[in-house]
Amino acid sequence: MGNNLLKGKKGIIFGALDEKSIAWKVAEEAVSNGADIILTNAPIALRMGSIHELAKKCNSKVIAADATSINDLENLFNTAMVDFDGKIDFVLHSIGMSVNVRKKRAYTDLNYDFLIKGLDVSAISFHKMLQVAYKLNAINDYGSILALSYIAAQRTFPDYNDMAENKSYLESVARSFGYHYGKNHNIRVNTISQSPTLTTAGSGVLGFDAFFEYANKISPMGNASAEDCAKYCVSLFSDYTRMVTMQNLFHDGGFSSTGVSQEIIDMMEKK
Ligand SMILES: NC(=O)c1ccc[n+]([C@@H]2O[C@H](COP(=O)([O-])OP(=O)(O)OC[C@H]3O[C@@H](n4cnc5c(N)ncnc54)[C@H](O)[C@@H]3O)[C@@H](O)[C@H]2O)c1
Repeated sequence: MGNNLLKGKKGIIFGALDEKSIAWKVAEEAVSNGADIILTNAPIALRMGSIHELAKKCNSKVIAADATSINDLENLFNTAMVDFDGKIDFVLHSIGMSVNVRKKRAYTDLNYDFLIKGLDVSAISFHKMLQVAYKLNAINDYGSILALSYIAAQRTFPDYNDMAENKSYLESVARSFGYHYGKNHNIRVNTISQSPTLTTAGSGVLGFDAFFEYANKISPMGNASAEDCAKYCVSLFSDYTRMVTMQNLFHDGGFSSTGVSQEIIDMMEKK
């Protein structure tokens, strides 16, 4: 049971593919906190994933939108405003994809067409979504817009590949657009930098299991789960965080501030 933190609020959630998706958990948590939501994903994901199951549970409409298409985004925001009979209070961008990662290209042997496609899907789409919403004046004052990021934007993780640059771009858009949205509409724009999480996108990264375990052993509180991430997102959509904007917020059990943990020292000493 939620705490009604989002009672009366209306939101759009991008990126719920299946029940492992972080966006799936955010949708459930938002609805259990009293929100009305619209779910959206790329047309192919609507066919291959199980989003309609989630829509039934959440009593929400599903609108197809490729997040790289301005036409699709305009249609999404316009339809949402008609359906909600008003503007939107919160938006979650939970989208990531690298063609180079999918095709197992090494970082030292990137294909640049793949790179550009991945950048568009994972990062430029955030700017497109913000710009479409801004021009349509689709978001209520003190609304909240969030995207999900990863610490590879600041530090190198060899197999995260070109997704590292995508996340750096994404976090920069939150700061730059956050300035304009804050100044003109009091609207917040932030990114959450989440722990490794077992999802379709996550497990696409080479060596993900070892990556996951390492982070779990370094973080004093262990890895943050998708369910905990959903709760954090809801707090950032709520009126309790109205002045938080232009931030990259670590949600990682303490990973980002830890040099080494006793567990790792013990493992090294055993050698
Ligand atoms: N899983 C992790 O370890 C982890 C850690 C930190 C951050 N993140 C980020 O969380 C976000 C959500 O990923 P997830 O782990 O829940 O995986 P996921 O695979 O469940 O979600 C990725 C989503 O992106 C959608 N998508 C891809 N191309 C699209 C397009 N053109 N238009 C619209 N949607 C599109 C997919 O359909 C899918 O729903 C991503 O930004 C990811 O980078 C994930």
